[in-house]
Amino acid sequence: MSELRVSSSGPLKGTVEVPGDKSISHRSVILSSIAQGDTLVKGILFGEDVLATRAAFQAMGVEIEEDEEKAEMLIHGRGPEALVSPKTALDLGNSGTSMRLLSGLLAGLPLEALLIGDQSLSQRDMRRVVEPLRAMGADIGCTGQGTAPIMIKGKTLEGIRYRLPMASAQLKSALLLAGLFGEGETWVAEPGPARDHTECMLSLFGVEVHREEGGREVWEDGIERDTKWIGVRGAAELRAPGELAVPGDISSAAFFMVAALIVPGSEVVIRNVGVNPTRTGIIDALSAMGADITVENRRSYGNEPVGDVRVRASALKGIEVKGELTLRSIDEIPVLGVAAAKASGTTAITDAGELRKKESDRIESMFKLLSGMGVKVRGLKDGLVIEGPAEFNGAAVESRLDHRIAMSAAVAGLAAKGEVVIRGAETIATSFPKFSSALTALSS
Ligand code: S3P
Repeated sequence: MSELRVSSSGPLKGTVEVPGDKSISHRSVILSSIAQGDTLVKGILFGEDVLATRAAFQAMGVEIEEDEEKAEMLIHGRGPEALVSPKTALDLGNSGTSMRLLSGLLAGLPLEALLIGDQSLSQRDMRRVVEPLRAMGADIGCTGQGTAPIMIKGKTLEGIRYRLPMASAQLKSALLLAGLFGEGETWVAEPGPARDHTECMLSLFGVEVHREEGGREVWEDGIERDTKWIGVRGAAELRAPGELAVPGDISSAAFFMVAALIVPGSEVVIRNVGVNPTRTGIIDALSAMGADITVENRRSYGNEPVGDVRVRASALKGIEVKGELTLRSIDEIPVLGVAAAKASGTTAITDAGELRKKESDRIESMFKLLSGMGVKVRGLKDGLVIEGPAEFNGAAVESRLDHRIAMSAAVAGLAAKGEVVIRGAETIATSFPKFSSALTALSS
């Protein structure tokens, strides 16, 4: 177990680039591997989660060349029929995205696979994908607790129409991938905005993604919602786009945004950040808190919007984070909690029950992190109430196999009176292997 020690820093200054978006990197490996033709993926994240997806496709016979220095992978896709059953279990490490997306894809292909993961991943809910996949006819099994290992005997699936019980991009993507090579059409509707990178990238690979207004529909939970259906047709053929560029990860950029805001005198520019509207809740939330934060130089990489984010240290105030804003900033809530603790007044974060089902129970992890540093914080079933502005004391923080908890603690450490010691900091490598040196470069 490695430790990361962080203590208070002078102003953060300069320009930084964050590694490629984790969600988009996974999808680029998956879609390039099942397409016909070669795809050069530029700016891909060489983090452990994405490397787990890459290793899985290599184990299924896909040839992948890589250049870590240049952050590039050249993926030689030969269509889904070229994939072979892996000889051993596919170990997906800490990566929920790999496990859920691969469950969907492999359930609909003629091969057999066993998916396993680390201790954190092995406790996460897989029933949410297993059940609708079974409704499509999949032969897929998990433990009695609805967790990994997942056993798959792939076969031709039938399309379904399915209202997602939670706004999960992993579930949405798993079902769309399952529908790609099945019979008929697969339609999903989500109860709130979940990241749409799969849909964006499928279009880039020549797959038509259909959208249909369902109007007001009563959902299984009894709530009537404006319902938008997203659909794909079976027997799809994916054409490699030749080249694909991955934007920087806004979820990684969020740590620098908050660090620059809470360390007095800071001004930081984070270049090439993906600003897909399903992901920019963190920028909207920080702006509402009074942050001096702007997106400049807007452009796009394929179907994904990109910009440079400029952040200056600011006096923050507490706000309410709920509904769509919570969904659009779900992975950034831990570090938003750190900003909230430095803001004057109360910040109430609600509608975030899904946080309990991430790499760790993030409501519990953030409660421990913040209260351990002397912040007045209360955990709710679906969120946190944080009172600020707080002085941060030094503390020892357990990462709990959760990269975003470890990095949030490091950011808090920059504005703490004592030293913050992060135990189990190696987990940061799942999404941002060079986090600590990037932070050091900005503070010196
Ligand atoms: C992801 C979807 C989200 C997110 C995760 C990445 C994806 O999870 O929290 O970090 O790449 O599809 P859920 O689908 O569980 O909401």
